Amino acid sequence: MSLGQVEINFAYVVSTALFIFGLKMLSSPATARRGNMLSGVGMLLAIVVTLLAAGIAYHWVFLGILVGSVAGLIGAYRVKMTAMPEMVALFNGFGGLASMLLSWSEYHQVQQLSTFIALVTVLSVFIGSITFTGSMVAWGKLSGKISQKPVIFQGQHLINAAAFALALLAALFFILSPAPPLGYLVFLAVLLVALAIGVTSTIPIGGADMPVVISLLNSYSGLAACAAGFVVSNNILIVAGALVGASGIILTRIMCKAMNRSLANVLFSGFGKAIAKDAGGEGPKGEVRPASAEDVFYILEAADSVAFVPGYGLAVAQAQHVVRELGDILEANGTEVAYAIHPVAGRMPGHMNVLLAEANVSYDQLVEMDDINPRMDSVDVCVVIGANDVVNPAAVHEQGSPIYGMPIIETYRAKTVIVMKRSMNPGFAGIENALFYEENTRMFFGDAKASIQALIAEFKSVNA
Ligand code: TAP
Repeated sequence: MSLGQVEINFAYVVSTALFIFGLKMLSSPATARRGNMLSGVGMLLAIVVTLLAAGIAYHWVFLGILVGSVAGLIGAYRVKMTAMPEMVALFNGFGGLASMLLSWSEYHQVQQLSTFIALVTVLSVFIGSITFTGSMVAWGKLSGKISQKPVIFQGQHLINAAAFALALLAALFFILSPAPPLGYLVFLAVLLVALAIGVTSTIPIGGADMPVVISLLNSYSGLAACAAGFVVSNNILIVAGALVGASGIILTRIMCKAMNRSLANVLFSGFGKAIAKDAGGEGPKGEVRPASAEDVFYILEAADSVAFVPGYGLAVAQAQHVVRELGDILEANGTEVAYAIHPVAGRMPGHMNVLLAEANVSYDQLVEMDDINPRMDSVDVCVVIGANDVVNPAAVHEQGSPIYGMPIIETYRAKTVIVMKRSMNPGFAGIENALFYEENTRMFFGDAKASIQALIAEFKSVNA
């Protein structure tokens, strides 16, 4: 059976609707799983319908589906929760590469390009190539295969700007005169320069800022796919690419806003380095009050309301299951339990939501920063689990601080604060945290999972 253009376009409209509803549902933890499934069904429909179009070399397509599915399945099963951003980086990179190869092969087949097709061809190759090498560098930095430090050298911005201008000029030439052999040489020049720009524009960015870069590259991969969609006149590729491009840039904006930094600051400042210098100041003064598992048990046992504030350390310790167990015990004890989530806690968007959902924490108990802060004064105990920057009062009180202005979960206003971490070491921003010296703060040192397990044991021994 082969479908005509009308049927195909009708199915594409249905797919598009499924993508849009799916994306909408992704904005709430309660509906995200179903939203993901809905978008997946939309994509399946689009693929099946595309394959039913006439004139497709099925043996190659099925070989591609087989290899891609097996690699994707193994990768998805084996990836650790903490390595999710790396996996997304790889997905984006291969998405960019696919768009670039698609447009390249199309250029091989149809060498007499109209001006518009030459424009979208060179756009998809340019953006796709930057996405590919940029994502590979991001993956390398996040997985520790290459140094996480920002690689900065004199004249770097000038070199990048010159490479960009060169690629732009070559692209213009190609659009006006795409015919080989000269057009082909210029085309290859754009491709090679774009591959280089992907590397040189990503290496100056510190490893911990990579999630923002990955989100931006995700947007680029969508734009490359959208342009490739025009090259091969495929409506669903155009729509899906545009949706990815738009959602990636929206997410990038949300992340920058939650860190109170501009995108330019993330891309060009070499953040990790700048902070290390600033971190040498006098730092907060006062006394640190360590607490034992028994001390913390008595505090929690007497509390009417407890808010857990998870951070990157929760992910490192893989403490999500034990924190849910402790939350259940507290609820059974008559305590009101909430989990307060900061939008950039951890190292990727939605990091804490994903971890807590994995541990089956009820969605009703997840509270956003803007909802918990107004009622923070009435919270009996805030338990900060492996979070640091996202609860650092310097963001509110210290004008000179590198994180000044970043919205935080204002745990310091709770009646009592318990901080679980292994040492007094700083978090991602590399700065000290005055919260640890506050009068109402008790430091519960140790690996987060082991500390929570010790608390659970205390509760169980009393109830036994
Ligand atoms: P951080 O400020 O990075 O602090 C994490 C803390 O966890 C550290 O101070 C560490 O202290 C502790 N920790 C590590 N392993 C632990 C373990 N096994 N058990 C207990 N504690 C452990 O984390 P945060 O508060 O979640 O803030 C996130 C930071 O990342 C922000 O600055 C944010 O701007 C940045 N960032 C986030 C994103 C996204 S999208 N989420 C993207 C880019 C950058 P010890 O070593 O003393 O244990």
